[in-house]
Order: sequence, then C-alpha cells, then structure tokens
Amino acid sequence: MQDQSIQPALRPGQKVGKLLPNWMVRATDLVMDHYIKRYLNCDPIVLDRPPAPEPGHQYLLYAHIPFCKTLCSYCTFHRFLYKEDKALEYFEHLRREMDYVKALGYDFTSMYIGGGTTTIIEDELVKTIEHARTLFPGIKEVSCETDPAQITTPAFRNLKGLVDRMSIGVQSFDDNILKFIDRYEKFGSGAQIYERLQMALELFPTTNIDMIFGFQGQSLDMLQRDMDLLVKLNPRQITTYPLMVTSQTRKSVKNIIAAKGLELGDQYRVIMNTLGGNYRQLTSWTFGRTNDEGFDEYVVDHDEYLGVGSGAFSFLGNNLYVNTFSLRRYGERIRAGKTGVERMRGFDKHAVLQYRLMLSLFSARISRRYFRDVYGVELDKALRKEMLALRMVGAITDDSSDPDRVVVTDAGKFLGLVMMKAFYSGMDNVRAELRKPLKAADM
Ligand SMILES: C[S@@+](CC[C@H](N)C(=O)[O-])C[C@H]1O[C@@H](n2cnc3c(N)ncnc32)[C@H](O)[C@@H]1O
Ligand code: SF4
Repeated sequence: MQDQSIQPALRPGQKVGKLLPNWMVRATDLVMDHYIKRYLNCDPIVLDRPPAPEPGHQYLLYAHIPFCKTLCSYCTFHRFLYKEDKALEYFEHLRREMDYVKALGYDFTSMYIGGGTTTIIEDELVKTIEHARTLFPGIKEVSCETDPAQITTPAFRNLKGLVDRMSIGVQSFDDNILKFIDRYEKFGSGAQIYERLQMALELFPTTNIDMIFGFQGQSLDMLQRDMDLLVKLNPRQITTYPLMVTSQTRKSVKNIIAAKGLELGDQYRVIMNTLGGNYRQLTSWTFGRTNDEGFDEYVVDHDEYLGVGSGAFSFLGNNLYVNTFSLRRYGERIRAGKTGVERMRGFDKHAVLQYRLMLSLFSARISRRYFRDVYGVELDKALRKEMLALRMVGAITDDSSDPDRVVVTDAGKFLGLVMMKAFYSGMDNVRAELRKPLKAADM
C-alpha cells in the first residue's frame, strides 16, 4: 500500500518526453571540464584546525570511514582494503577529531557518515555515533552507508534506533551485471539481495537503495526490471547514479565496464517514467516517498558542512578544506592535537553563486528568494549568462503563479544530472591527485 502523502513526480499516464540531444550532453561535459580545471584544485596549507563556526550558521557533520572488505573496480570513493587493527585505531582517532571540533564551538543539525563501508565494525560505529550525539546535541538525524553483505551480520541490528537513514549499495538486481562488476560472489545474487533488503527496511525510519546505470550490456529492459523490482520493494528512498568514470577508475572501467555510447538520456527516461509514477523526485537522481525526506544529497541540503576523517571534505564560508588521504599522516596529526585538514581552496562569490545554481538545478528547486536572502543578489542579474543559457536549452521556465520560483523542466533535471556527474567526477580527480603519492605505509 502506498503512503497517502505521496504525490508522485508524474501524473498517472504522464510520460517524460525527449530530454537533451547528445551534442548538448557533450557540450555540457566540455563546459564542466573547463570550470572543474579552473576551480577544483587545492593548495597545500599548514592549518591545525578548520575555522570556528559563524554565529547563526547551520552545519552538517560529515565523517568518513575509508575501509571495505573488497574493492570494486568502478568505485570512485576514498577507501582502503580493511585491516582490523588499522580500522580500530582509525575509529578512535575519528572520535578524537570530533573532540577538537567540539572545542572550536561547533554544533551540528545532522550527521552523514560516508564510506567506504561505514558499518565495517558495527560496535565502533555505534560508539562513534553515540560520541557525536553526546558532543553535538543539535544532531537530529544520522545517515550511514553500507553494502548487502554487511546487513546480514548479527551486530548490524545494534544500529537500530541510532541510525535514521541507512543507504545500501545494490547497483543492480541483474545477476549478469552483478557478475560483470564482480559483486555477485561477494555480495550475493539479485534475488538474495532483494530478500535481505526486505529485512533491512524494517530496521530504520529511512532506507535508501543505491543503483547505478550506464554499465556496458545493461539494456533498457534490464534497467526496467531493476526499476520494477524497486517499486515492488518500495523503500523510502532510491538513488540512481549514472556510472562515473574518473581518473582513478579510467583504466579499469572505461570501455570495460562503462557503456560506450551516450545512452544516458534513454536510460534516464526509463528511470523517471517508472520511479516518477511512484515517488517524488528529490534531486535529479534521488527519489523519495515524501517531499520531506531529510537526507538525500547532503551537499544540496546543507550550505556548509564540516568533514572529519581521512579524505573528508569541508565547505565552510566560501572555502573548501580537504583532510589528508594518508591514514599514517591522519594518525600523526590527530595524536599531535591537530585535525586532518591539509588542503584548502577559496572561491570568489561568483563561483559560489554558480555552484549554488548548479545544485539548485540538480535538486529541481531554484528559488530567487534563496539567492536574495542568503547571498543578497538578484539571481537573474548576478548569473545573467547562466540563466539565459538554461532558458535557451529549455532547462528552466518561469512559474506564473510564483515570481520567486523558477520551474526546472525534465530536460533541466537531466541537465542537472549531467552537470553533477561531471562535478562529482571532478571532485574525484582531486581525490586521485591527493591519493597518488600514497605509499603502502599510508594505507
Ligand atoms: C561510497 S559507496 C558505499 C556503499 C557500499 N560500500 C556498497 O558498496 O554497497 C556509495 C555508492 O556510491 C555509488 N558509486 C560508487 N562508485 C560509483 C561510480 N563510479 N559511479 C556511480 N556511482 C558510484 C554506488 O552506488 C555506491 O553504492
Ligand atoms: S562500492 Fe562500496 S564496497 Fe565497493 S569499493 Fe566502493 S565503497 Fe567499497
């Protein structure tokens, strides 16, 4: 039975039409490439701590757990092969870094724990969440990430009551795809995963299922079956990522795992047409049962966030801070009473406005009032060229009933997806650059 509060993204019988021509997708990739090269590079800095909080600002706490029991070839995240002694020490350091952040005067409204596999040692995760909730009483919700194997451990149930949103990486229910990406043996068949998910749905207020599209050999029929299974499973949230190929994964993924052509638009239509009839669309790639889902993409819902742990990013004021990717140096810094920050990049106001417009397009919520209230600018004047370009390609139109609201069309949602895919790939290039010098002793 569906929740009465659902007003799906699509009306009954409504279908998503043509999105963007392939040449426009390619052109967007080129434009994004230009901006990524210009903006996404960080200077080394000597900084013992991030800056103190600004009065009246709200912050999210991000914590990174960089361990997995197996390393997937397509994965773009900061992770190392799990070793128990290293992981135990790491959790200890993470809690100490939170103490330093507390001493700076921070409190947080929510906490996002990302990985890797955050539930890799459940008891340590429990201790870490309890520690964070004691230090930062403002935290109202905690989100974690895990995989379909970890949800079968007896200790996984200990997270019930502590975690508000559990995100589980499925990628596909299709056995051929799971074999192709080497997850079938390690995480189970599509049918086994489906059965395990049914149990996990009972444990947390929100369960999110991560899927990926854009694999080689993944036909529209396969994708349709995946989407139909998700509708039947009926989790509270679904995220459908386009496969991102980055400098870290190019060798192992391009022309091997990733689809060759530009079928993204056709695949995205299958996703929107199926999930759109049953879910609200929260961002270009996230679908939720209700409008108020708390977390989906934390960078969208939180203007400022502070990251703890190796490889964590923080966005504070107009600056991006990056923690060291070396586990060894992370340990050394924490033991010396410092936080993990080792890189920084400042942005001018125009760059921040452009970034905010991209996120607004991606979340299909462009509000002129937001730009006026938060940045003191008139959106159409401050980003005149960008707004004109979005209008010309049919990504946005005006809302005749609300002059402060800009309507994002289906083509606009797809454009938001293409831009965020490029942006996340660009962030991964920062990771790749910083991970490159790492030696065995750093992992
Ligand atoms: C950081 S992972 C954590 C999930 C968990 N470790 C797992 O494997 O199930 C979060 C999600 O990122 C997505 N992801 C990882 N690499 C990706 C890539 N190259 N392109 C698109 N999505 C990717 C996957 O859907 C994955 O489930
Ligand atoms: S997809 Fe998940 S399990 Fe695989 S390497 Fe990435 S974080 Fe680890």
